[in-house]
Amino acid sequence: MTTRVGGVGWPVEHSRSPMMFAHWFDVTGVDGVYERIPVPPEDGAEFFKNFPADLHGVSVTMPHKGVAAAATHAEPVAARLGSVNTVWREGETVRGTSTDGAGFLASLDAAQPGWREGKGNALVLGAGGAAAAVADALADAGKAVLIANRTFEKAEALAQTVGGRAVEWGALSGAMDGAALFVNTTSLGMKGAPPLKVDLSSLPDTAIVADIVYVPLVTPLLVAAEARGLAAVDGLGMLLHQGALQFERWFGVRPWVDDALRAKVVASL
Ligand code: ATR
Repeated sequence: MTTRVGGVGWPVEHSRSPMMFAHWFDVTGVDGVYERIPVPPEDGAEFFKNFPADLHGVSVTMPHKGVAAAATHAEPVAARLGSVNTVWREGETVRGTSTDGAGFLASLDAAQPGWREGKGNALVLGAGGAAAAVADALADAGKAVLIANRTFEKAEALAQTVGGRAVEWGALSGAMDGAALFVNTTSLGMKGAPPLKVDLSSLPDTAIVADIVYVPLVTPLLVAAEARGLAAVDGLGMLLHQGALQFERWFGVRPWVDDALRAKVVASL
Protein backbone atom coordinates (compact mmCIF):
# COMPACT_ATOMS: atom_id res chain seq x y z
CA MET A 1 0.00 0.00 0.00
CA THR A 2 1.24 3.50 -0.82
CA THR A 3 2.45 5.32 2.30
CA ARG A 4 1.31 8.92 2.63
CA VAL A 5 3.55 11.65 3.96
CA GLY A 6 3.33 15.40 3.47
CA GLY A 7 4.58 18.86 4.16
CA VAL A 8 2.80 21.04 6.72
CA GLY A 9 3.22 24.80 6.53
CA TRP A 10 1.63 28.10 5.62
CA PRO A 11 2.06 28.90 2.82
CA VAL A 12 3.20 25.69 1.08
CA GLU A 13 2.62 26.39 -2.63
CA HIS A 14 6.22 27.32 -3.35
CA SER A 15 7.79 24.42 -1.48
CA ARG A 16 10.38 22.37 -3.42
CA SER A 17 9.83 19.40 -1.13
CA PRO A 18 7.27 17.56 -3.32
CA MET A 19 9.83 17.52 -6.17
CA MET A 20 12.58 16.33 -3.84
CA PHE A 21 10.59 13.48 -2.28
CA ALA A 22 9.13 12.40 -5.66
CA HIS A 23 12.71 12.01 -6.90
CA TRP A 24 13.58 9.82 -3.93
CA PHE A 25 10.47 7.65 -4.28
CA ASP A 26 11.62 7.08 -7.88
CA VAL A 27 15.23 6.20 -7.14
CA THR A 28 14.67 4.14 -3.97
CA GLY A 29 11.55 2.28 -5.10
CA VAL A 30 9.79 3.17 -1.83
CA ASP A 31 6.03 3.17 -2.48
CA GLY A 32 5.10 6.56 -1.09
CA VAL A 33 3.47 9.86 -1.91
CA TYR A 34 4.26 13.32 -0.52
CA GLU A 35 1.59 16.01 -0.56
CA ARG A 36 1.44 19.66 0.33
CA ILE A 37 -0.67 20.15 3.47
CA PRO A 38 -1.56 23.81 4.01
CA VAL A 39 -2.37 24.43 7.68
CA PRO A 40 -3.18 28.01 8.76
CA PRO A 41 -1.12 29.33 11.69
CA GLU A 42 -4.00 29.11 14.18
CA ASP A 43 -4.74 25.45 13.33
CA GLY A 44 -1.23 24.06 13.92
CA ALA A 45 -1.66 22.79 17.49
CA GLU A 46 -4.92 21.05 16.62
CA PHE A 47 -3.34 19.37 13.58
CA PHE A 48 -0.56 17.73 15.60
CA LYS A 49 -2.85 16.80 18.50
CA ASN A 50 -5.22 15.01 16.14
CA PHE A 51 -2.59 13.83 13.69
CA PRO A 52 -4.47 12.44 10.65
CA ALA A 53 -4.77 8.66 10.83
CA ASP A 54 -3.91 8.16 7.16
CA LEU A 55 -0.57 9.96 7.41
CA HIS A 56 2.67 8.17 8.28
CA GLY A 57 4.63 11.38 8.77
CA VAL A 58 5.07 15.01 7.81
CA SER A 59 7.78 17.56 7.37
CA VAL A 60 7.08 20.82 9.17
CA THR A 61 7.95 24.32 8.02
CA MET A 62 7.04 27.87 8.98
CA PRO A 63 5.21 28.75 11.13
CA HIS A 64 4.61 25.38 12.81
CA LYS A 65 8.00 24.14 13.99
CA GLY A 66 7.50 25.42 17.55
CA VAL A 67 3.97 24.10 17.85
CA ALA A 68 5.10 20.71 16.52
CA ALA A 69 7.80 20.58 19.20
CA ALA A 70 5.21 21.19 21.91
CA ALA A 71 2.55 18.84 20.55
CA THR A 72 4.61 15.74 19.63
CA HIS A 73 6.89 13.43 21.60
CA ALA A 74 10.01 15.33 20.65
CA GLU A 75 13.53 13.90 20.74
CA PRO A 76 16.08 15.72 22.95
CA VAL A 77 17.63 17.86 20.20
CA ALA A 78 14.23 19.12 19.07
CA ALA A 79 12.91 19.63 22.61
CA ARG A 80 16.01 21.62 23.55
CA LEU A 81 15.60 23.94 20.57
CA GLY A 82 11.80 23.99 20.70
CA SER A 83 11.71 23.16 17.00
CA VAL A 84 10.46 20.07 15.16
CA ASN A 85 10.74 19.74 11.36
CA THR A 86 10.01 16.00 11.11
CA VAL A 87 7.04 14.11 12.51
CA TRP A 88 6.26 10.42 12.24
CA ARG A 89 3.89 7.89 13.71
CA GLU A 90 5.15 5.02 15.86
CA GLY A 91 2.14 2.92 16.83
CA GLU A 92 -0.18 5.29 18.71
CA THR A 93 2.60 7.78 19.40
CA VAL A 94 3.34 10.81 17.23
CA ARG A 95 7.06 11.56 17.44
CA GLY A 96 9.08 14.58 16.38
CA THR A 97 12.66 15.53 15.72
CA SER A 98 14.66 18.16 13.89
CA THR A 99 16.91 17.28 10.97
CA ASP A 100 17.80 20.93 10.28
CA GLY A 101 21.09 20.97 12.16
CA ALA A 102 22.24 17.54 10.99
CA GLY A 103 21.17 18.49 7.46
CA PHE A 104 23.33 21.60 7.59
CA LEU A 105 26.35 19.59 8.76
CA ALA A 106 25.76 16.94 6.07
CA SER A 107 25.66 19.69 3.47
CA LEU A 108 29.03 21.02 4.69
CA ASP A 109 30.45 17.47 4.73
CA ALA A 110 29.42 17.05 1.10
CA ALA A 111 30.56 20.46 -0.16
CA GLN A 112 33.68 21.00 2.01
CA PRO A 113 34.78 17.62 3.37
CA GLY A 114 37.67 19.09 5.39
CA TRP A 115 35.61 21.65 7.30
CA ARG A 116 35.57 19.70 10.59
CA GLU A 117 39.38 19.93 10.85
CA GLY A 118 39.38 23.70 10.25
CA LYS A 119 41.05 25.59 13.10
CA GLY A 120 38.98 28.51 14.29
CA ASN A 121 35.54 29.56 15.41
CA ALA A 122 32.21 29.05 13.72
CA LEU A 123 30.65 32.49 13.38
CA VAL A 124 26.87 32.35 12.97
CA LEU A 125 24.91 35.36 11.79
CA GLY A 126 21.32 35.40 13.09
CA ALA A 127 19.54 34.12 16.17
CA GLY A 128 16.20 32.83 14.88
CA GLY A 129 14.98 29.25 14.50
CA ALA A 130 17.37 28.37 11.68
CA ALA A 131 20.29 29.87 13.59
CA ALA A 132 19.43 27.74 16.63
CA ALA A 133 19.55 24.51 14.62
CA VAL A 134 22.80 25.46 12.87
CA ALA A 135 24.56 26.80 15.99
CA ASP A 136 23.51 23.82 18.11
CA ALA A 137 24.76 21.33 15.51
CA LEU A 138 28.08 23.17 15.15
CA ALA A 139 28.56 23.22 18.93
CA ASP A 140 27.73 19.50 19.03
CA ALA A 141 30.38 18.93 16.37
CA GLY A 142 32.91 20.46 18.76
CA LYS A 143 33.15 23.94 17.28
CA ALA A 144 33.48 27.12 19.34
CA VAL A 145 30.38 29.03 18.23
CA LEU A 146 30.08 32.81 18.05
CA ILE A 147 26.67 34.35 17.39
CA ALA A 148 26.06 37.82 15.99
CA ASN A 149 22.57 39.18 15.57
CA ARG A 150 20.90 42.52 14.88
CA THR A 151 19.05 42.13 18.20
CA PHE A 152 21.88 41.42 20.60
CA GLU A 153 19.67 40.00 23.38
CA LYS A 154 18.57 37.19 21.09
CA ALA A 155 22.19 36.40 20.28
CA GLU A 156 22.92 36.21 24.00
CA ALA A 157 19.98 33.92 24.67
CA LEU A 158 20.94 31.57 21.83
CA ALA A 159 24.60 31.59 22.89
CA GLN A 160 23.49 30.45 26.32
CA THR A 161 21.32 27.65 24.88
CA VAL A 162 24.08 26.20 22.71
CA GLY A 163 27.07 27.02 24.89
CA GLY A 164 28.51 29.66 22.57
CA ARG A 165 29.38 33.34 22.83
CA ALA A 166 27.42 36.35 21.58
CA VAL A 167 29.22 39.11 19.70
CA GLU A 168 27.91 42.58 18.91
CA TRP A 169 26.83 43.14 15.30
CA GLY A 170 29.26 46.07 15.26
CA ALA A 171 32.12 43.76 16.30
CA LEU A 172 31.58 41.38 13.39
CA SER A 173 34.79 42.29 11.56
CA GLY A 174 36.84 41.60 14.67
CA ALA A 175 35.13 38.25 15.20
CA MET A 176 35.86 37.23 11.60
CA ASP A 177 39.56 37.29 12.33
CA GLY A 178 39.56 33.91 14.00
CA ALA A 179 36.69 32.30 12.11
CA ALA A 180 37.11 29.08 10.12
CA LEU A 181 33.45 29.15 9.15
CA PHE A 182 31.01 32.02 8.61
CA VAL A 183 27.33 31.15 8.20
CA ASN A 184 24.42 33.41 7.33
CA THR A 185 21.14 32.15 8.79
CA THR A 186 19.22 35.42 8.44
CA SER A 187 16.81 36.14 5.62
CA LEU A 188 19.15 38.84 4.28
CA GLY A 189 20.12 38.05 0.68
CA MET A 190 16.91 36.15 0.00
CA LYS A 191 14.93 37.18 -3.09
CA GLY A 192 12.81 40.16 -2.05
CA ALA A 193 14.90 40.90 1.06
CA PRO A 194 17.76 43.38 1.32
CA PRO A 195 21.23 41.95 0.62
CA LEU A 196 23.55 41.05 3.49
CA LYS A 197 26.25 43.70 3.41
CA VAL A 198 29.25 42.56 5.40
CA ASP A 199 32.91 43.16 4.77
CA LEU A 200 34.61 39.77 4.53
CA SER A 201 38.15 41.15 4.36
CA SER A 202 39.14 40.06 7.87
CA LEU A 203 38.20 36.40 7.37
CA PRO A 204 41.25 34.12 7.08
CA ASP A 205 42.06 32.94 3.52
CA THR A 206 41.08 29.39 4.52
CA ALA A 207 37.63 30.33 5.85
CA ILE A 208 34.47 28.77 4.46
CA VAL A 209 31.42 30.98 3.89
CA ALA A 210 28.02 29.28 3.95
CA ASP A 211 24.57 30.69 3.35
CA ILE A 212 21.35 28.88 4.18
CA VAL A 213 19.39 31.08 1.77
CA TYR A 214 18.89 29.21 -1.53
CA VAL A 215 16.74 31.63 -3.54
CA PRO A 216 18.81 32.92 -5.25
CA LEU A 217 21.26 30.03 -5.20
CA VAL A 218 24.23 32.38 -5.34
CA THR A 219 23.48 35.14 -2.84
CA PRO A 220 25.35 38.46 -2.69
CA LEU A 221 27.23 37.03 0.33
CA LEU A 222 28.46 34.06 -1.71
CA VAL A 223 29.41 36.34 -4.60
CA ALA A 224 31.52 38.39 -2.16
CA ALA A 225 33.10 35.23 -0.72
CA GLU A 226 34.03 33.96 -4.16
CA ALA A 227 35.41 37.35 -5.13
CA ARG A 228 37.72 37.05 -2.11
CA GLY A 229 38.75 33.52 -3.16
CA LEU A 230 36.99 31.87 -0.20
CA ALA A 231 35.15 28.54 -0.35
CA ALA A 232 31.41 29.21 -0.68
CA VAL A 233 28.60 26.78 0.23
CA ASP A 234 25.06 27.52 -0.96
CA GLY A 235 21.87 26.84 0.96
CA LEU A 236 20.40 24.24 -1.34
CA GLY A 237 22.57 21.52 0.22
CA MET A 238 20.95 22.05 3.60
CA LEU A 239 17.45 21.81 2.12
CA LEU A 240 18.28 18.53 0.36
CA HIS A 241 20.21 16.93 3.22
CA GLN A 242 17.64 17.77 5.91
CA GLY A 243 15.08 16.23 3.54
CA ALA A 244 17.16 13.07 3.05
CA LEU A 245 17.25 12.64 6.84
CA GLN A 246 13.46 13.06 6.96
CA PHE A 247 13.02 10.39 4.29
CA GLU A 248 15.25 8.08 6.33
CA ARG A 249 13.11 8.64 9.43
CA TRP A 250 9.93 7.75 7.60
CA PHE A 251 11.14 4.87 5.45
CA GLY A 252 14.41 3.58 6.95
CA VAL A 253 16.35 4.32 3.77
CA ARG A 254 18.75 7.27 3.44
CA PRO A 255 18.51 8.50 -0.15
CA TRP A 256 21.49 10.01 -1.98
CA VAL A 257 21.57 13.72 -2.55
CA ASP A 258 22.67 13.33 -6.16
CA ASP A 259 23.47 15.77 -8.96
CA ALA A 260 20.30 14.87 -10.84
CA LEU A 261 18.15 15.99 -7.92
CA ARG A 262 20.17 19.15 -7.41
CA ALA A 263 19.83 20.01 -11.10
CA LYS A 264 16.06 19.46 -11.00
CA VAL A 265 15.61 21.75 -8.01
CA VAL A 266 18.01 24.38 -9.38
CA ALA A 267 16.01 24.45 -12.63
CA SER A 268 12.88 25.23 -10.59
CA LEU A 269 14.38 28.15 -8.65
P1 ATR B 1 14.18 31.65 10.84
O1 ATR B 1 13.29 30.66 11.52
O2 ATR B 1 14.23 31.50 9.36
O3 ATR B 1 15.55 31.70 11.44
P2 ATR B 1 13.38 34.01 12.30
O4 ATR B 1 13.27 33.20 13.54
O5 ATR B 1 12.32 35.01 11.99
O6 ATR B 1 13.46 33.08 11.02
O7 ATR B 1 14.81 34.75 12.32
C1 ATR B 1 15.21 35.67 11.36
C2 ATR B 1 16.65 36.14 11.62
O8 ATR B 1 17.02 37.07 10.58
C3 ATR B 1 16.84 36.87 12.93
O9 ATR B 1 18.14 36.61 13.42
C4 ATR B 1 16.70 38.35 12.51
O10 ATR B 1 17.33 39.27 13.37
P3 ATR B 1 16.52 39.87 14.66
O11 ATR B 1 16.59 38.82 15.72
O12 ATR B 1 17.26 41.11 15.03
O13 ATR B 1 15.11 40.15 14.18
C5 ATR B 1 17.41 38.31 11.18
N1 ATR B 1 17.01 39.43 10.32
C6 ATR B 1 15.87 39.55 9.62
N2 ATR B 1 15.86 40.72 8.93
C7 ATR B 1 17.03 41.35 9.23
C8 ATR B 1 17.63 42.60 8.83
N3 ATR B 1 16.99 43.45 7.99
N4 ATR B 1 18.85 42.91 9.33
C9 ATR B 1 19.49 42.07 10.18
N5 ATR B 1 18.98 40.89 10.58
C10 ATR B 1 17.78 40.53 10.11
